[in-house]
Amino acid sequence: MTGPADPSRTVLLLNGPNLNLLGTRDPEQYGTTTLEQVERRVGDLGGELGVEVVCAQSNSEGALVDRIHRARHWAGIVINPGAYAHYSIALRDAIDAIEAPVVEIHISNVYAREEFRHTSVTSPVVAGYVAGCGVFGYELALRAVLQRAAERRA
Ligand code: DQA
Repeated sequence: MTGPADPSRTVLLLNGPNLNLLGTRDPEQYGTTTLEQVERRVGDLGGELGVEVVCAQSNSEGALVDRIHRARHWAGIVINPGAYAHYSIALRDAIDAIEAPVVEIHISNVYAREEFRHTSVTSPVVAGYVAGCGVFGYELALRAVLQRAAERRA
């Protein structure tokens, strides 16, 4: 697999399990915007901000870990780990193991929901965290990860 033209100007937008169903899955929590629309919006914003956004989604923990590893020298990663945020030590370790800044985003306010969603094993190792802003949170997360990347270069 060939990598991006300029990894230092590339951000990975990574979505975890069930987020492929955005748009139709539990619209009260997640809205009606599809994942394709989210990816287009974030890609357009990336263009305005001077970065390429590579989008990926997987329902599998190992595939997400592989994606994180592959992007370890990129400008940053925006990730919605979905339910894996609540218990995947493998994802947490992958995020912790890489240099690139990672910003975690949740569409819903997980702290206003069931108790099991209040636990996060990934949030202690991310460079930023956005939750409860709806799909607009993805745009906030892109801006935040680029800010973190710039801070690390300074
Ligand atoms: C989610 C919140 C998680 O608790 C849930 O399992 C998801 C979506 C969110 O974006 O709000 O799949 O990550």
